[in-house]
Amino acid sequence: MTCLARQSGMAEQMLAFGAEWLPQERLSQHTSLGVGGPADIIRLHDTCRLPEIAAYLRGHGVPWRILGGGSNLLVADQGLPDVLLQLVRGEPIRFAGNSAEVPAAANLGTAVLECAKQNLGGLEGLAGVPGTVGGALRMNAGAYGTEIADVVRALAVFRGATGLIETVKAENVRFEYRHTSFSPDDVMLGVTLELEERPYAAILERIKECNRKRLASQPIQERSAGCIFKNPPGRSAGKMIDELGLKGTPVGGAMISERHANFILNRDHATAADVLKLMDLVRMRVLKAFGLELEEEVIVWKG
Ligand code: EPU
Repeated sequence: MTCLARQSGMAEQMLAFGAEWLPQERLSQHTSLGVGGPADIIRLHDTCRLPEIAAYLRGHGVPWRILGGGSNLLVADQGLPDVLLQLVRGEPIRFAGNSAEVPAAANLGTAVLECAKQNLGGLEGLAGVPGTVGGALRMNAGAYGTEIADVVRALAVFRGATGLIETVKAENVRFEYRHTSFSPDDVMLGVTLELEERPYAAILERIKECNRKRLASQPIQERSAGCIFKNPPGRSAGKMIDELGLKGTPVGGAMISERHANFILNRDHATAADVLKLMDLVRMRVLKAFGLELEEEVIVWKG
């Protein structure tokens, strides 16, 4: 289907599904790193309609992917042929005892605070991690000794392969360091978290402590996609890159952060090509000096 043909019918069709059609959005506007060319976006307010929309797209031969908060994402400058489905948070968090049912589209930091207000803790380390709950689940986000996997009881997942929504128990998912056993076409819809009852003030104090550490060691006020590379077992990617004297290294408008060497910043109208070149440079230097191949943590969509 051509781009033009897509646009003429899609807007009405998506409206019928209760979704918004945003043609040719610049992904630089939808990612924290601020690079990336155009792609069509479908914004979905009612996740129950996802099976219908996915079936419609499949029937029309339109490839699609899920766009979360865009905080761990690097999109190529030429953009993407795929339609990006983005879930919009509609539902509130539902609490029952020490459990919380959280929509995947919820902002992670906001969700942590909403749980804290109910005197439910266990997610404090994740309060400052940008992005959505769905993105955090898929990547098994972690910080300051907490991984989201620690508190997951069950998940609602749309299986792209079958077109069905399933409830998946946590014990049936393999959660690893920044990786899960979900397949690329599985879509997180929501999660039931099992939290610890703790006073709000104590939770807040721990959140503040983590945020202080983060502020001191990470360039959180600048445009980035978080840590670019995973830590190899027993090693710190940031420490190795720092030891090589690479902090402050520029390529075009991108630069390795002076504060934390595992962050690449969009300093001045960087392109995805700038960031990718800088990543290659780092990878080569680390391989040469330490004999280790760094693995990307950031998700790269090259189209
Ligand atoms: N270090 C340096 N120079 C640097 C950066 C770090 O010497 O430029 C040293 C630090 O002094 C410390 C060690 O390296 O001794 C580890 O650094 P840090 O505590 O900052 O943790 P990290 O391993 O670099 C990980 C996660 C972060 C997470 C923090 C806090 C990865 C790739 N990174 O960073 O997650 O916020 O721990 O728990 O796992 C992310 O996922 O995007 C991310 C930023």
